[in-house]
Amino acid sequence: MKVEQLFTGCLAEMAYYIESNGEAAIVDPLRETAPYLEMAEADGAKIKYIFLTHFHADFVSGQVDLAKATGAKIIFGPNATADYDIYNGKDGEEFPLGAGKITLLHTPGHTMESSSYLITDEAGNTPCILTGDCLFIGDVGRPDLAVKSDLTQADLAGHLYDSLRNKIMTLPDDIIVYPNHGAGSSCGKNMSSETFDTLIHQKETNYALRADMTKEEFIKEVTTGLKTPPQYFPNNVRMNKSINTSIDTVLSKGTTALDPATFKEMSEQKDVLVIDTRSKEAYTEEGTVPGAWFIGINGSFAPWVGALVTDINQKIIFITDEDTRATEVVTRFSRVGYDNTLGYLTGGIKNWKAQGFEVDKIGSMSAVEFVKELKAGTLEKPLDVRKDTEYISEHVVGLENFPLDGINTNFAAIDTSKSYYLHCASGYRSLIAASIFKANGVDNVTDVRGGFKAIKELDVPLTAYVCPSTLL
Ligand SMILES: [Fe+2]
Repeated sequence: MKVEQLFTGCLAEMAYYIESNGEAAIVDPLRETAPYLEMAEADGAKIKYIFLTHFHADFVSGQVDLAKATGAKIIFGPNATADYDIYNGKDGEEFPLGAGKITLLHTPGHTMESSSYLITDEAGNTPCILTGDCLFIGDVGRPDLAVKSDLTQADLAGHLYDSLRNKIMTLPDDIIVYPNHGAGSSCGKNMSSETFDTLIHQKETNYALRADMTKEEFIKEVTTGLKTPPQYFPNNVRMNKSINTSIDTVLSKGTTALDPATFKEMSEQKDVLVIDTRSKEAYTEEGTVPGAWFIGINGSFAPWVGALVTDINQKIIFITDEDTRATEVVTRFSRVGYDNTLGYLTGGIKNWKAQGFEVDKIGSMSAVEFVKELKAGTLEKPLDVRKDTEYISEHVVGLENFPLDGINTNFAAIDTSKSYYLHCASGYRSLIAASIFKANGVDNVTDVRGGFKAIKELDVPLTAYVCPSTLL
């Protein structure tokens, strides 16, 4: 039995490819179908099942297109309902695959349809369990992402406790846990960067699996300190229950090559958003199309698109480092449901400049210059755009926090006539924020290269968070 974990860094998501004797199953596929079709073809296998651990909130999964391409059955756990054909597996139901089988274990809690999939190989052993968002490495799924549920967070957390104790923790100690997400995902609070582990090690190290934890303690622990989920999550849940535009149609429209004159005309339309997906260096050194937002493809691209672009149907045109990356960019937009991409600037910014069209530039300064000017008191509005939790744990004395993820709701607090100097942790988020400041009328905005990582290496006063209990 082949079990392959397919990790996608941008979304911190793990899909799985399972194959035995010419039959294959895909678990939690991303929007695009090609990688799964290619893997099955390489094995000479037929994709028989598409299993979903639950309706995902943080990406649009590709089960409908994949089922259409393969004739495979789409399988969810109990309670799932969708606008397309699905099969609701029962708790304990077995699905034969080649000479092995996959057993559905209903593990509600993260959502009510949430299910885990136990792999039984050709020899009858159970080497691994795919836990979806029930059990992560170092964490468990947050119990508040169900949309239109009559259940409270505490109700769901109670179900999660029972699922973990009765269905997962009773499995053999040496079984490998394969979750759906890793560090960086908003589906949990405190995930490890490891992508798999043994159950016994999780029992020893995962706070949520502590042997003597009561249900009440568990509920309190998993429902405390939850951040508001990113604004695109409800849209992705809705899309995951619906039939969406096919990925082929999205790709063919989104990869339209637009010459600079057409791109310029479209960029000037009020309902079109330009997103510059190039590297930080190319963006700052060469400048960009006026009004463009920077969201670089070499980072957590899709989650930031989802967090910042408020209309899921937003018309988007984009700039890319290489024309050959257009398909990748459109795919990554579509993974979080942004299907209304209309094309890219062919020949990139060089071609734009060759037509004599103007460019916008964001100011850029090193951490050394930033600290020097900060000490001299010459920076009008220096801001820290990291998350509030990062800011609370340590920040430069005197700097205000203006988190990037709240920029849409809080922008009214920005005085567009002032000069702003933005830093984040390493320079990706500050550049996104700077581009949005610029697009919204702040003429003087400067990005601090290297961010807090570079700043804290210098001689600068920092505040460290002091846990209240240590003050007693
Ligand atoms: Fe989830």
